[in-house]
Amino acid sequence: MTFAKPSRRAVVASALAVAACRGQAQTPPAPLALPPLKSVAPFPMGAAISVGGLEDADYRAVLLANFSQVTADWEMKMEQILQSDGTFSFAKADMIAAFARQNGLRLHGHNLIWYIYAPEPFQRMAGDRAAFERAYANYILAVAGRYRGQAVGWDVVNEPTAEDGDGYRDCLWRRALGMDYVATALRYARQADPEAVLFLNDYNLESNPKKRATFLRLVEGLMKQGAPLGGLGTQTHLEADLAPGAIKAAIRDLASTGLMIHVSEFDVTLQGHPLMSRAAKLAAEARLAGEAAEALAALPSAQRYAFTTWGVRDSDSWLRHPPNAGAGDDSPLLFDDEGRPKAAAAAFERALGARV
Ligand code: XIL
Repeated sequence: MTFAKPSRRAVVASALAVAACRGQAQTPPAPLALPPLKSVAPFPMGAAISVGGLEDADYRAVLLANFSQVTADWEMKMEQILQSDGTFSFAKADMIAAFARQNGLRLHGHNLIWYIYAPEPFQRMAGDRAAFERAYANYILAVAGRYRGQAVGWDVVNEPTAEDGDGYRDCLWRRALGMDYVATALRYARQADPEAVLFLNDYNLESNPKKRATFLRLVEGLMKQGAPLGGLGTQTHLEADLAPGAIKAAIRDLASTGLMIHVSEFDVTLQGHPLMSRAAKLAAEARLAGEAAEALAALPSAQRYAFTTWGVRDSDSWLRHPPNAGAGDDSPLLFDDEGRPKAAAAAFERALGARV
């Protein structure tokens, strides 16, 4: 009996059907047993943390086992420190700094000046440039000065580039001081802390080449005028449909300045892209984690500042909390809700040469 050779599509379909059947029968994959991230990474491994998280023993266990650096999720931001009467409150920020000190963790300061803020005390001075700059200096000197000798770096200005890359953010700081608000902030931060690496930090630099070019024009201008800029933070908040090579291209571009590079807020949201299955998004997440690790590791060691994930476990992610509680089942980080390493963590380590 001759047997008509089935078409390639038919072969694939049946193979998949068989696999699916087999899949159903299989127990869920055994949790990955991976070496600690920080033991594999040729750069400091950072995580964004919050005082609330630190009350959770499992959170602390995953954090201390895998990470060697921390960034405060919100506790070191102006919204937390600057009170409406113009005084400063460092209670929460100090808790993060103390935890880092007590556990031998590097502290990355985030952030001093951000376009989203237009605090009352500053609005009241907007018409008086000298008074405004005095208060601006006073804030930066007080905050960066307080953690002098502990903070290894600061995001001095966060998100200076316009959303679409068409120029720079309009904000209270720019209206009061012009675009010089960036160089001015860097100079006062340097005065406050002679050692800390001073960063500009922004997002969509891998997914929007125009925005990256605009960001780099600002950087080149600052370097030309001798501003004490030491590093560039690429937040790396990614979506699952990001094309292969986009992260590498961005990091190569940013590193061409010779400055230190910080993958400063890594996560991959599974939200959006309804045509992609959850499994496909998780596979893309793993691929992107590997690419980002490889891209940073490929830089000269003097330019590898750190790789920071924006949270510790999926359940801690800002993408799972108001105002971003878009999808309660978002899974953007390297560790799942229980603190178990995910495929993305294995891909991250494999990209760094670990046999996992
Ligand atoms: C986010 C925090 O994770 C949230 O908890 C907070 O509600 C809003 O800010 N870019 C940044 C971070 O530079 O500071 C933001 O952090 C996320 C986007």
